[in-house]
Amino acid sequence: MQVLIVGGTGFIGQALREDFIRHNIDTWVLTRYASEAYHVHWCPEKKTCETNKLHHITHIINLAGAGIADKKWTKTRKVELLASRIKTTEFLYALASTNCPKLKGYIGISGVNAFGFNDEKIHQEDDPFGTDFLSKLVFSWENAHRAFNQLPIFSILRLGMVLSPRGGAYVKIAGPLRWGLGAVPGTGSQWVPWIHLNDVIHILRLALDTPLGLVHVTVENATMKELTLAIARKENKKIYLPNIPVFLLRLIFGEMSCLLTESLRVTNEKISHYYEIKHGRLSSI
Ligand SMILES: NC(=O)c1ccc[n+]([C@@H]2O[C@H](COP(=O)([O-])OP(=O)(O)OC[C@H]3O[C@@H](n4cnc5c(N)ncnc54)[C@H](OP(=O)(O)O)[C@@H]3O)[C@@H](O)[C@H]2O)c1
Repeated sequence: MQVLIVGGTGFIGQALREDFIRHNIDTWVLTRYASEAYHVHWCPEKKTCETNKLHHITHIINLAGAGIADKKWTKTRKVELLASRIKTTEFLYALASTNCPKLKGYIGISGVNAFGFNDEKIHQEDDPFGTDFLSKLVFSWENAHRAFNQLPIFSILRLGMVLSPRGGAYVKIAGPLRWGLGAVPGTGSQWVPWIHLNDVIHILRLALDTPLGLVHVTVENATMKELTLAIARKENKKIYLPNIPVFLLRLIFGEMSCLLTESLRVTNEKISHYYEIKHGRLSSI
């Protein structure tokens, strides 16, 4: 098995590579900023790539995408968020079609924010898409992944908020807490589908030889208040400030504030047939 992790320099990708090394899985990282022997350089914008390093690849895990919560969603940023997922995946497919004769597995990543927000419904994988920006992004992203669906091993993992003190949303929430400025965003009663990084890594390793199809990778038992308090406990901090009102979050973050203020419920029933979640409680983050 020779695995290529696309976007493997990020929060999930780095942890994944460490895990694969521990499990003696040969791993390569496709990156725009190659500096290590295991890096393969590409530039999706210029459509260039070190294609001579791709011939032995048997599996691709595609994590590439500009950070959804890194910058305000201006018109330009929205184009960047879409292109960094859809155009890169289209280029990846073109590269793989001509340069990866041994390819037999593909795992694409997407997010659970596919249904709009705030209905109390617990969404299943095949529920209709919403009409908001994130739902449209997920729709197009997953369509781009589907170019690979003729391979014997094919999965699209829809991730909830991935939690670990190593990075991602945890660090963004813990930052103000460490300065004594922690507060629960919005009403606090909004549901947040989340998943521990260790479970994501286990499921990605499982998906190398088990086709999972389209699957939610989440735990579905936490509100934003519970999640913020769990991170505060982990950081040995108390929250003294009142909740941050929704209007203020909208003022600061614009449309992106939906990530903090809106409620979403999705089921994880499908993945539970394949894998028993190990970190199903917020106390385990
Ligand atoms: N973390 C979460 O809570 C979460 C939840 C749901 C879904 N996801 C999705 O899972 C994927 C990985 O998440 P992560 O937290 O590990 O993200 P991350 O730390 O931001 O890493 C993303 C990777 O994507 C690559 N990338 C960024 N912009 C790119 C561009 N314009 N063109 C090509 N590649 C680009 C980068 O690789 P190089 O700079 O090396 O090229 C980077 O290492 C992302 O697509 C994310 O949207 C994450």
